Amino acid sequence: MKPDISVKLCSIKLQNPIILASGTCGFGEEIAKFLNLNKVGALITKTITLKPKEGNPPPRIAEVEGGIINSIGLENPGIKSFVKDKLPFLRKLKIPFFVSISGETEDEFAELAKILDKEKNISAIELNLSCPNLKQGKNLFGQDPKITYETIKKVKEVTSIPIIAKLTPQVKDITEIALACHKANCDIISLINTIPAMVIDLRTGKPFLGGISGGLSGPAIKTVALKMVYDVAKVVDTPIIGCGGIMNGKDAVEFILAGASAVSVGTANLISPDSAQKTTEEIENYLIQRKINSVKKLIGKSLD
Ligand SMILES: Cc1cc2nc3c(=O)[nH]c(=O)nc-3n(C[C@H](O)[C@H](O)[C@H](O)COP(=O)(O)O)c2cc1C
Repeated sequence: MKPDISVKLCSIKLQNPIILASGTCGFGEEIAKFLNLNKVGALITKTITLKPKEGNPPPRIAEVEGGIINSIGLENPGIKSFVKDKLPFLRKLKIPFFVSISGETEDEFAELAKILDKEKNISAIELNLSCPNLKQGKNLFGQDPKITYETIKKVKEVTSIPIIAKLTPQVKDITEIALACHKANCDIISLINTIPAMVIDLRTGKPFLGGISGGLSGPAIKTVALKMVYDVAKVVDTPIIGCGGIMNGKDAVEFILAGASAVSVGTANLISPDSAQKTTEEIENYLIQRKINSVKKLIGKSLD
């Protein structure tokens, strides 16, 4: 008999634990040419802001040992165009989709959530807390437990759609931030986003990326992400989406054992757009080989 690979993230049922990570599957349309989206667990859109953003100058991606560094800079069409031009395609999918948003202030996050609250079929809103808080200079929202708490609270006041807090690894203690999410009644915690990194171009002697530096993702960050998921799972019972360097079923199972109820794959989609499908099959095979009838039995097992 085939094992049960469905999982739940608060009230949201996923047919399998594999989610397409924000920024690596656009708004679904392009990747749908290479991957049957109705077979993945869920999809998270590119982060949307109030106004359209052009992003950083090229080059925007550098291939490095163990991963890539991107300096896309949140290029997106803005909320108005997202609702008009991108939501109709997403609504036709048979899987849950989550909309990622980012603001420059707590109020801007709430404003975006208020707009999305009026729209049908959005299963969750992911708050990209890895962006600078204008009121606090260069500090990121997700670096301060108080700001994290207040942002989630403000968003929850204006919408009944479940909220995912996507955390940045650029913190002293990730558990402090996770506890703030829990206190604010956040429905799901997603971690981690990319890690700051850069490349110097030896031909020019200057930074290679147009944005000077960017965010490292892929296998190089897997073990860092895994520890953060494990640490967060130890202190809160909020469902976790694990993310960072997941390239295959074995990586995904490690995150699930560390406490993630589901995982999101990012860089793997850029290398091979059908990797989510393969990763799902590999999870299934892992369960079959060990005669485990449900993936849910693995969640958090390494913490016992
Ligand atoms: C090209 C690219 C664009 C990304 N854009 C976003 C984004 O818009 N919002 C966001 O929250 N994360 C974004 N991310 C981060 C990913 O969602 C993910 O957290 C990170 O890449 C780690 O996972 P991975 O190692 O599987 O790629 C982006 C990552 C890449 C590689």
